[in-house]
Amino acid sequence: MSAAPAPVVILISGRGSNLRAILDEAADAPSLARGPRLGPIGETRAGRLPIEIRAVISNNPEAEGLQHARAAGVLTEIVNHRDYTDRTQFDAVLMQAIDRHAPRLVILAGFMRILGDAFIRHYAGRLLNIHPSLLPAFKGIDTHARALAAGAAQHGASVHFVTNDLDGGPVIVQASVPVRTGDTADTLAARVLHEEHRILPLAIRWFVEKRLSVCNGQVLLDGEVRPEQGLVAGVGKQAETSQ
Ligand code: GRF
Repeated sequence: MSAAPAPVVILISGRGSNLRAILDEAADAPSLARGPRLGPIGETRAGRLPIEIRAVISNNPEAEGLQHARAAGVLTEIVNHRDYTDRTQFDAVLMQAIDRHAPRLVILAGFMRILGDAFIRHYAGRLLNIHPSLLPAFKGIDTHARALAAGAAQHGASVHFVTNDLDGGPVIVQASVPVRTGDTADTLAARVLHEEHRILPLAIRWFVEKRLSVCNGQVLLDGEVRPEQGLVAGVGKQAETSQ
C-alpha cells in the first residue's frame, strides 16, 4: 500500500502481548515472521502493517504493556478509571484522550473495562476487540477455564467489531486451537494467545487497507460476507505443526 499509514489508538489494561504483536508487525519485526502465513484464506503477510500508532492508552498505570509501547517510541497515556466515580465520566475523558489523536481505528488489545453506549456509538464501525474464545461461545471472563469445564474440543480467539452487545459484535476473524487432554487454563490460554497474536494484526490490516465493512451486522471482506463468523479454518492446526 502506498497510502499514508492509518492513524490508530490502542487501549490496554495489562500485560500487552497483543500490543506487542501489533508493534512488531507495524515495525515489520522478524520475530513476527515466525510460523506459517495465514494460507487457508489465501492471505500472506504483506510486509509492514501500515499503521501509525499515535498513542497507547491504559486505564491501569501499572500495565506492563506501557513499557512495550515506550520501548517502541510510542506515546503512552493513562486515563485511570479509579480517578472517576462514574463510568460515564471515565468514558468521556477517555474519548477526549483518544480523539486528540484523530484515529481512524481504535483497538481494544486487552482493555478490561466495559465501555458505555455513548463511547461505543462514537466509535461505531471503527472499534475492534480481541476476545479469547470462539465467539459466540464463552463471552465474558475466565474463558479458558470455562471452555475446559464445558469439555470443549476446540477453543480459540475472535476479533470483532464492538457493539453494545458485550462480546457480541460482528466477528471479523477467528482462529481455533484444539483442547488437549491434560490442558490447564494456563496451557490452553498460551495456545490461544499465540493465535491472538496472528489474528489481531490481520484484522487491523484488513481494516486499514479498507477491505472490511459491516452491513446489517454482517462483516464483509472485499465486498463478500465472511463465512462462518470469519473463522480462519485450520490456522491453529498449522501453528501447532510448525512449532
Ligand atoms: C487477551 O487474552 C485478550 O484476548 C483478552 O485479554 C488478554 C490480554 O492479553 N481480552 P495481553 O495484555 O494482550 O497480553
